[in-house]
This record gives sequence, C-alpha cells and structure tokens, in this order.
Amino acid sequence: MFEIKARDAMARLGVIKINGKKIETPTIMPVVHPNPKKQTVPIDLINKLADVIITNSYITYTTPELNEFASEKGIHELTKFKNVIVTDSGSFQLSVYGSVNVQPMEIIDFQEKIGVDVGTILDIPTPPDVSYERASRELDETLIRAKDSIARREEMGYNLKLNGTIQGSTHVDLRIKSAQQMGQMDFDIYPLGAVVPLMEQYRYGDVVDIILNSKMHLPSNKPVHLFGCGHPMLFALSAALGCDLFDSAAYALYAKQGRYLTVSGTKHLEDLKDLKSFPCQCPICSQYAPKELNKMFTSKNKDERKEAERLLAEHNLYVTFEELDRIKFAIKEGNLWELVEERCRAHPKLMDGLRRVSKYMEFVEKNDPVSKKSGFFYTGFESMFRPEVYRHKQRLNRVQMDKIYLTNVSSTVRKPYSENLPNIECDVDVLIKDPVFGLVPMYIDTMYPLSQNEIPELYEHEKKFNNDFVNEFMSKIEEENPEKIMDIHTYNYYTNHSKSKFEKSKETLYAHKDTCDLTRIDKMLQYQYGHKIIDDEIMDKLMTKRSKTTKRLRNVMWKDTKEVLFTIRASDNYLIPAKEGAKLLHEKIPAPFHRVVIDPSVEEFAKDGKSVYAKFVIDCDKELRPYEEVLVVSKEDELLAFGTTLLNGKELLEFDYGVAIDVRNGVN
Ligand code: GUN
Ligand code: ZN
Repeated sequence: MFEIKARDAMARLGVIKINGKKIETPTIMPVVHPNPKKQTVPIDLINKLADVIITNSYITYTTPELNEFASEKGIHELTKFKNVIVTDSGSFQLSVYGSVNVQPMEIIDFQEKIGVDVGTILDIPTPPDVSYERASRELDETLIRAKDSIARREEMGYNLKLNGTIQGSTHVDLRIKSAQQMGQMDFDIYPLGAVVPLMEQYRYGDVVDIILNSKMHLPSNKPVHLFGCGHPMLFALSAALGCDLFDSAAYALYAKQGRYLTVSGTKHLEDLKDLKSFPCQCPICSQYAPKELNKMFTSKNKDERKEAERLLAEHNLYVTFEELDRIKFAIKEGNLWELVEERCRAHPKLMDGLRRVSKYMEFVEKNDPVSKKSGFFYTGFESMFRPEVYRHKQRLNRVQMDKIYLTNVSSTVRKPYSENLPNIECDVDVLIKDPVFGLVPMYIDTMYPLSQNEIPELYEHEKKFNNDFVNEFMSKIEEENPEKIMDIHTYNYYTNHSKSKFEKSKETLYAHKDTCDLTRIDKMLQYQYGHKIIDDEIMDKLMTKRSKTTKRLRNVMWKDTKEVLFTIRASDNYLIPAKEGAKLLHEKIPAPFHRVVIDPSVEEFAKDGKSVYAKFVIDCDKELRPYEEVLVVSKEDELLAFGTTLLNGKELLEFDYGVAIDVRNGVN
C-alpha cells in the first residue's frame, strides 16, 4: 500500500493507499479534535489542505456524547473529514496523566468499531533519560500489547490498519530492539514515539539518533511517522531522514498562545505587531495587518479573541503545508540536502541534529540516489559530510589507475577539469586534489557530482580537511604499487611530449582529447558500474561520438555497425545503456552485480519493456542504490530488460507493492 515515486536523501515522495483513499507523502496529519465544537480551524479548510488527519479515539471513547455518535455513525461523520482518518489510542494521555481508563484491547475494538482507517495500539510512551530498567520494562509491555493488537485485528477481519509505535526512551539499543520486534509484526505504519519531550527541549541530536536507529531496523516498505512533530522547521531534516508522516497539534496550540509559526522558528504576535505586513503570503497574512490581528488577539471581547486564534491557527496550518510542498519539490529536483542545510542554519540545536547525521553516513548513503537533477551546492562545512561525498570516496576505488600523477589545481579552474586543463597522454591518470571530494580522477570528472557542483571560496581549514584522506589513499598505493605513482619529471616529459598536439584553440583541444575518449569511457564505466567492462579486444571495436555543437561526448558505438551501446546523459554524464550496451554489461559484470532477478511469470512483460513491479522481484544485488542503472534477468541469469531502479537493494527485496524498476527497454 506504500509506493515510492521519487526520492532524495532518505526522503520518499510516495503514495499510501488506504481503504481506497490516497495520501501523498511526506505529509502532515493535522490533529483534529473529535468534538467539532472544540475544533479551532473549520474542517472545510482541513479537508481542502490535508489528505489525512489524526484525532483521538480515547477522548471519543470516554466522552459519552462523542462515543454514542461515533459508535452509531462513525468517525468520518463525527469529524466530517472525508479522506483517511488516523486515531491515537490514549497513549499521549497516559504519558501526561500517568494512567488511562481503558484496556489495550478495548481501545483497539473501539477504533475498529467507529470505522477508523488507521488505529494505534495503546503503547507506553517512556520519557527520555529514565533508567534502562524502566525503559526496558515498559518496552516489553508495549511489545506484548503490540502482539495482542495484531492478533485482535486478525480476529476482527483486518479492516483496521494499525500504527505500531516504536519506544525505548533515549536508550538506543532499546529503540533498536523495538524496531526489530515491531518490524516483524505486520503493522501498517511505524510511528516513532515519545520524542515530543526531546523536541520541546530542542534535543534534535537525540531525535536524529532515534530516527536513524529505528529506520535501520524497520522494514523499508512501511511508512514512518514522527509522532508529535508539528513544527515546520523540523520537517526538512526529518523528511530527509526518511520520516514520511508528521502530525500537528502545534498549529492550534501555538495559536492559542498567540504564536506565529515560520519555517525558521516561532514568533509572537506581539513581536510582529509593528511590521507593516506579515512575512507570509497566505490568505490570512495577505488579508490582515499584524497590528489588526494583535489587537483582536488581545481584545477583551471573547469572540474577537477566538476569531484571532482561528486566523492564527489557519496561518500556522498554511505555512505547515507550504513547507511540505517545498520539501516535495526539493525531492523532485534533487536538492533536499540544500533545503535541510538552510533550515538547520536557523538554530544551533537544529545544526546539532544535522551534524549528528554524519555519524550514520554509511546507512544514509545506501538510500540516497546516485544521481540528481540538481547540482551539489556546498553551503557550509556540513556539506563535506553529505552522502554524495561519502559515496565518491568509496567509489574512487572502483577506478583502475596505473600511472598516477597527483596534482593540485587552483580553485579558479572551472569544472569539468578535463575541459579546462591541458591534456596529456591517454595512459596517464591525472588525479586532482579536490577540496570537497578529496580526489578526482580527470577521466571521470564530468560525472555527477564531480562537475555538477558549486563550491564557494573555502577557508584554510576547509581546504585542509581532506588532506588525511588524500594521504591515506596515496600511501596505500605507494605501499602496494609504488611504481604507479609518477613524479613531476615523468609528468613533464608527458606534457612536453604531447605539447605539439595541444593548441589553445578549443577545436584542437578536443581533437586531441578524442584519442583518449575510449580510455575515458572505460574508466567512467568502472566508476558507475564497479566492474571493468571494456577490455583491449572490445576497445578496438568501439568508437565514440561527440556533439557537434558542445563537443561533449554523446555516444559509444560499435565501429562496424554504428549501433549505439551507451548514451552519455547530459545532466550527469552517466552511461545509459541501449540494448547493445546492456548486453555488454551483462556479459562483463558477473552475477549478481547490477542485477534484479524477477519471477518467471512476468519475464515476457519485462522483455516487452514493461515496468517491473516490486512484488515480482525475487532477488537482486543488495548493494544497489536508488536510481542506478540495472539489468533485469531471469533466475537463469538470462537478460530480459534494463532500466533504472527506484529502490535500493534492501527495498527491492522488501517492497511488495508499486513499481520497482523503470524499464528503458526489453530485449524483444
Ligand atoms: N503522541 C505523541 N507521542 C506519542 C507516543 O509515543 N505514542 C502515542 N501513541 N501517541 C503519541
Ligand atoms: Zn501566513
């Protein structure tokens, strides 16, 4: 019921289908009071903005009029919300009052009875920093209730979808245990619980620990909900870490206190009252001046004050949804990390959260797409720790280099380096020290993200940051194959030697580069696919073609038939296979690498070029990353099709719903 359509960082632009209704993620569920008289914002506006709301089944259960109405006519009729309704179970009341007047199974039954789409178990929200013993005991109780709730739902015929909340306080190993055990039960959504106190205390580093330790051990095919996260300044970071759902009571609670939400923090109406207009374009802020709204809010007239609260709550809701639209757009554009960095600069504690992410980069990188529509923008030192950089440092080892000349270039040299530096003989691997990516082999420097980046002038400490990485990389080569490393004299020999060929005009520059094109293609394929695809014999049979206008490499073809094997995609310079290229990759890359094995029943569809659905994936290369080019094969490793995977290796095996591979072409 959860399908990923696009992604960036660990964020998933997806669709959840529940009871024939659709939710687009990431999104927020406004908290709606089950008593329509206590609802701050009219339900019409909520119906307009939201795909899903969350309301409280415990309040509904324990308030006789609400109980009677909901039991008879259902929760949708009570709240007048049309789409998906999620309910909480009373756990929040449990965390505030210490006890509740309902049994765990009683509230499951009630949620089912009133026609809730997604109910919640009566989990125990253990606060932060309690003893390990207490957190462990309470987690064990939550796990028992979880198991019972799943069994109960089965008895009742599976109508009720269920939230299985992750607990464990601030004890990371208990969060892991919780995620593992809850993950094995068939919950539909996994909320991360008891993070509200941490968010109230601005402990965003601890929130990041909880999100990532839970994500690492939860099934990848289920949506994750960050329970109680309603402030828009936190959405970008949490979405980038794979939280799909948020809930907001904040929009109404803050309004009651005269607080005005913005994406970078909260302001008080009082502080804004001297501004000519609000710093927001929502229907409320366009219509009211700060002074006017503040006057209403401070009025002795109760109705006027209530009206001001409603208006403020509406603004709060508009900015909340606006930020989610911005996040969705950033996911599509591939610049979510830039948005996260921007948001986290609003408060040092948010920066704590972002900085904590670097600790988990090995995991984060597995979920981050290998190519993005937007270039990599370095917005500050934190950018050094982004997954694109981490991945490049790993994948650098994929590129075979035999005669290495290590060089510094001035920061004013435009990228790609290869188009702006004099070229030398094909067999020299010029390795450029790059302040952010560490080392960039000149032969692959046109590929994402090595040229598709913008980096400002760096501070001295930033320039030195990668020195250890460079030294370690070079020492390893020196220990193993010292003869690989060329000195300046040999390099001068090569450059002088080829100088006659190298003229200043662009024409001759590229004409000369042509002779090295196939070496370049060979290394680019190694970097992208992790295997040697072009041996000497094949090299002799290939040719390349450059664009007449831009002079950039465009195609790799068979010399004799002129059939295209690969197109070099302009946006990222990745080698996109055509049928001939896919056949060559299949021949040269050993199974199971770069492969997705599908069920025999859909082999014919794949051969005809139809998309591959996740439920038909039976095996794959576990190291695949989102947006990699893959080969679709049969159990016998017969090549059926090729395309782009939307899912990484883990997800390919875990998802059983939605498209997994966007097939470019089948072998038919
Ligand atoms: N609302 C905020 N935090 C929690 C939690 O941990 N559990 C439940 N059920 N609801 C919450
Ligand atoms: Zn506004």
